Amino acid sequence: MSLRGDYSRAGSDFSVEQDWEKYTSEEHALYRRLFERQSKLVPRYACPEWIEAIAGLDASREIPKFGEVTKQLKKATGWEIVAVPGLIPDEAFFTHLANRRFPVTVWLRKPEEFDYIVEPDVFHDFFGHVPLLFDPVYADHLYEYGKGGLKAMRLDAVKFLARLYWFTIEFGLIRTPAGTRAYGAGLMSSGGELPHSVEDPGPKRLPFDLERIMRTEYLIDRYQDTYFVIDSFEHLMRETAPDFTPLYARLKK
Ligand code: PHE
Ligand code: CO
Repeated sequence: MSLRGDYSRAGSDFSVEQDWEKYTSEEHALYRRLFERQSKLVPRYACPEWIEAIAGLDASREIPKFGEVTKQLKKATGWEIVAVPGLIPDEAFFTHLANRRFPVTVWLRKPEEFDYIVEPDVFHDFFGHVPLLFDPVYADHLYEYGKGGLKAMRLDAVKFLARLYWFTIEFGLIRTPAGTRAYGAGLMSSGGELPHSVEDPGPKRLPFDLERIMRTEYLIDRYQDTYFVIDSFEHLMRETAPDFTPLYARLKK
């Protein structure tokens, strides 16, 4: 895969400086337009935990300064944001999560990618992922996921664990008193798929099923045709707590 970020200055953990002063006013304006478009959809389609968290962040006017948000995040759940040039290797990614550091891409998409982008950019990573890191249960779950990732590497099972991430952290739905809502970051940052995931009659919406998720292949460049619905972040935490070693062994047969 060819990646478009600048990896030449990345450290061994793939972190870089955010270099906030380098963003242009056009980039801040594009970010603001993306933020405004998604904000109109959020009250109807996002889970309450996400909505509550974004309200406490001053992130609507311009591309946020990661250092500022980290101060808030550290107090809330002990997490930090680390700036990265784009997608990073599994081991570096899992190691960051296992240390309560969430990697956020520094670059913003081009104006012609307003509606759709395959690679994560700062809008996806920030708007999609960061708000839920303020939820204590979600935050603990992602930390456990990071440790589970390092373990899956040793067991040669990253492919299966990555499917869990895909169908929860990226494209997960959650039951709420008001109905099914989105919490996955890939949904939260998408103008089209956010409403689609919640109310289009086409896709399947199945109750969370760990083994089924790990057996389900996904495509990264189109809307999902299956979504998995959790009851709560506690539910997700509980379902993923058992040792996956025997499950991985079964999946490989
Ligand atoms: N329980 C998983 C294992 O034993 C670790 C894990 C926890 C993975 C939470 C994902 C989320 O490998
Ligand atoms: Co993502």
